[in-house]
Amino acid sequence: MNANKIEEPDASISYTDAIDYWTGVPATVDGVLGGFGHTTLPRTDVKGSIAFLKRILRLYPDFEESGKKFGTRGCDVGAGIGRVTRDVLSKFCSKVDLVEPVVPFANQIRIELESKNLLDKLGDIRQVGMQDFTPEPERYWFIWCQWCLGQLKDVHLVEFLRRCKAGLQKDGLIFVKENNTSTLMDEFDSTDSSVTRADQSFRRIFDQAGFELLQTEIQQGLPQGLYPVRSYALRLKKQDS
Ligand SMILES: C[S@@+](CC[C@H](N)C(=O)[O-])C[C@H]1O[C@@H](n2cnc3c(N)ncnc32)[C@H](O)[C@@H]1O
Repeated sequence: MNANKIEEPDASISYTDAIDYWTGVPATVDGVLGGFGHTTLPRTDVKGSIAFLKRILRLYPDFEESGKKFGTRGCDVGAGIGRVTRDVLSKFCSKVDLVEPVVPFANQIRIELESKNLLDKLGDIRQVGMQDFTPEPERYWFIWCQWCLGQLKDVHLVEFLRRCKAGLQKDGLIFVKENNTSTLMDEFDSTDSSVTRADQSFRRIFDQAGFELLQTEIQQGLPQGLYPVRSYALRLKKQDS
């Protein structure tokens, strides 16, 4: 080992430490939102995501006119207790599959959806990490990844996004909603063994995985003291589609 080599922040990520951490967190909105569940954050986040999704849908008039795409299957990655599916994705998909490796969270998903009479929207619950998830070919009109991609090392994130490409229907999209650092540097967080990435790092990774940015925006109106939260809508690069 070269003692002078400075390790990248993502080199410190441990997938087992991350699962241990999340398994000890209450399977509640407050738990998956790091104690911000009782603030304005969940409502503001949901409103922002719905507005972002609607704006993207307007770029694809076929979705709304025919209801074809609008009515098909989505995927919620790093889904936690299914908060995003319950409050956002269920409004845009006829079925949602959820990817969540932590057992108590995965077990809570059905309860959350049932509480809002949304069990008919529940597709498959895949109890695996993103690093081990391969979607079936052309299954999804979109894949939503929120507050979870920091759990993957860069190399595994690129591989995950490449596998997702094959899981998208024609013109399918990937949505990412994640914290950004306020600098050009990524930062390791030992609490949940994750990295918070700079906007530039995400853009480099999306490019490496064969995606281009359709739209991006910063979530407005979040409580003070949080990292900036950015949404990205990604489509396949022309030569890759
Ligand atoms: C901050 S919570 C966000 C949950 C949900 N996306 C939301 O916004 O409500 C992070 C989630 O990522 C999950 N997670 C941790 N490591 C993961 C991995 N390797 N693959 C997929 N999900 C992971 C955690 O179990 C947890 O549910």
